[in-house]
Amino acid sequence: MLTQIALLTILGSLFAAAPSVQPIKRDSGTYANCRSFYADVYAETDQNVDLKSVIGGPPANQQALVESSIQTFAAGSTVMQQIMNATKIPVKGTYNMWFEYCEPKNNNGNIPGIFQTHHGLVGNAGYWNVQLDNSPNNSFAESAAAAGWATLSYDRLGVGRSAKPDGTNVVQIAYEIAQSISIAQSLRAGNLSDVGKFNKIVGVGHSYGSNLLTGVASVGPQAFDALILTGFTNNATQGPLGLAAFQSTIASVAYPARFASDANDYVITPSVSVDQTGFFHYPNYTNGSLDFFTNNKGEYTLGQQNSIAAPLQLKNNYTSPVFVVTGQYDAPYCAANCYVTSSSGSNSTTSAAGNGTATSTRPSQLDTAKELYPSASIFQTYVVPDTAHGIIYHTTAYEAYQRIIDFVKSASV
Ligand SMILES: *[C@@H]1O[C@H](CO)[C@@H](O)[C@H](O)[C@H]1NC(C)=O
Ligand SMILES: *[C@@H]1O[C@H](CO)[C@@H](O)[C@H](O)[C@H]1NC(C)=O
Ligand SMILES: *[C@@H]1O[C@H](CO)[C@@H](O)[C@H](O)[C@H]1NC(C)=O
Ligand SMILES: *[C@@H]1O[C@H](CO)[C@@H](O)[C@H](O)[C@H]1NC(C)=O
Ligand SMILES: *[C@@H]1O[C@H](CO)[C@@H](O)[C@H](O)[C@H]1NC(C)=O
Ligand SMILES: *[C@@H]1O[C@H](CO)[C@@H](O)[C@H](O)[C@H]1NC(C)=O
Ligand SMILES: *[C@@H]1O[C@H](CO)[C@@H](O)[C@H](O)[C@H]1NC(C)=O
Ligand SMILES: *[C@@H]1O[C@H](CO)[C@@H](O)[C@H](O)[C@H]1NC(C)=O
Ligand SMILES: *[C@@H]1O[C@H](CO)[C@@H](O)[C@H](O)[C@H]1NC(C)=O
Repeated sequence: MLTQIALLTILGSLFAAAPSVQPIKRDSGTYANCRSFYADVYAETDQNVDLKSVIGGPPANQQALVESSIQTFAAGSTVMQQIMNATKIPVKGTYNMWFEYCEPKNNNGNIPGIFQTHHGLVGNAGYWNVQLDNSPNNSFAESAAAAGWATLSYDRLGVGRSAKPDGTNVVQIAYEIAQSISIAQSLRAGNLSDVGKFNKIVGVGHSYGSNLLTGVASVGPQAFDALILTGFTNNATQGPLGLAAFQSTIASVAYPARFASDANDYVITPSVSVDQTGFFHYPNYTNGSLDFFTNNKGEYTLGQQNSIAAPLQLKNNYTSPVFVVTGQYDAPYCAANCYVTSSSGSNSTTSAAGNGTATSTRPSQLDTAKELYPSASIFQTYVVPDTAHGIIYHTTAYEAYQRIIDFVKSASV
């Protein structure tokens, strides 16, 4: 049932004129020195699905993609079950990936740990180091550096400057789970470019990236010493504010200036209003941040869109701390109101977590994530007030980051 959120739909595509592309500012800031690099990452899985056997190869054109979406949602459609039933296929290989590494400016070679981040659909590595209004306050990497920690972000497979293989059968969440584990192993071994060796690695996800980490908790539970799941619940909506509202459009059609070379199974949201619907709560963001989002957003693949919910079906025995941080008005994961919930008070954070300082005690849809982490040593939630799915673009981002850093400290990760 949950896999239904993975399915695409196009509710009439409105093509915005391609905006001028602004350079992404992700340099060193107030607290962090950052550098970017490419590295080859080897990974393998036997858990991708033969999605081509269901939806075919890349759509011939935008109208074919819209028709494919209609067929998925038509009365009596079995497309969703066919995807769930599709044959599993093995994928292995080495892909060139783009990374940004940030470390505290003033460190004596003594960095306690690193956050390995995983951005969501429509995002890219820059999500974690957005610098708006000449302030470091919207940048996760800056807040981490101010607290003494390093951050490693990457354009996930298929996105931005990383490799763009077959967007239907290769670029899927199962393969990306294997890549994330491989990257964490390189950090522990100290052989990822020149970033050095870390023995405390916290996995941080946003949206699709949080689903991905839930897969890591099952497939490679040793990869991360704690998980921070932002923009996440186990109750993603299948309604009009869900993934359907992204109106996935062939990226090279929506924004030819940026995505001309992408194959037709690489898609993106088509307009600034669609971006607002999916990611923003008006008026709790600075005026420039919505345009910034639209001008810097990333493409994703039909393989990713149709596999996003698969990790939520896996069981795990993950025993490390887990912290869920989601905006009160998150559209795709809370149907835009996280406090409308059938969770009972007895399942709420305070009693379920046991240890540590509970940050949210009022029942919310964030509590549903506990079902996915039955063995977590600490499980806490924080509902970010007056904030939607794209937390970092809101004026509340800085406070949310402090909660994350406090959690990591109090959990003695
Ligand atoms: C999916 O698999 C189940 C169990 O094998 C089968 O009963 C069902 O008909 C299949 N559905 C589709 C749409 O292929
Ligand atoms: C960033 O947030 C902190 C804490 O709220 C505040 O003291 C500081 O003035 C903010 N910086 C900027 C440039 O807005
Ligand atoms: C890095 O170290 C890991 C763990 O020892 C190893 O599996 C991997 O092959 C190494 N990668 C490179 C590029 O040397
Ligand atoms: C959100 O914006 C409203 C209207 O400007 C304001 O009253 C409220 O305090 C803001 N919320 C937060 C958490 O800053
Ligand atoms: C806010 O953004 C809109 C759309 O880009 C623009 O028309 C408007 O002038 C901006 N307002 C301010 C106060 O900057
Ligand atoms: C969880 O632990 C139980 C008991 O040790 C084991 O049977 C099960 O396979 C484990 N599940 C996963 C997903 O590792
Ligand atoms: C899941 O979300 C729906 C709204 O989309 C809500 O009615 C329901 O109570 C939520 N379920 C839980 C367990 O919170
Ligand atoms: C809350 O706990 C009760 C009893 O432990 C259980 O029956 C119910 O399914 C739980 N609800 C959620 C949303 O986890
Ligand atoms: C909480 O901490 C106590 C004492 O440190 C420990 O005995 C208990 O197992 C912990 N509970 C959980 C859920 O980790």
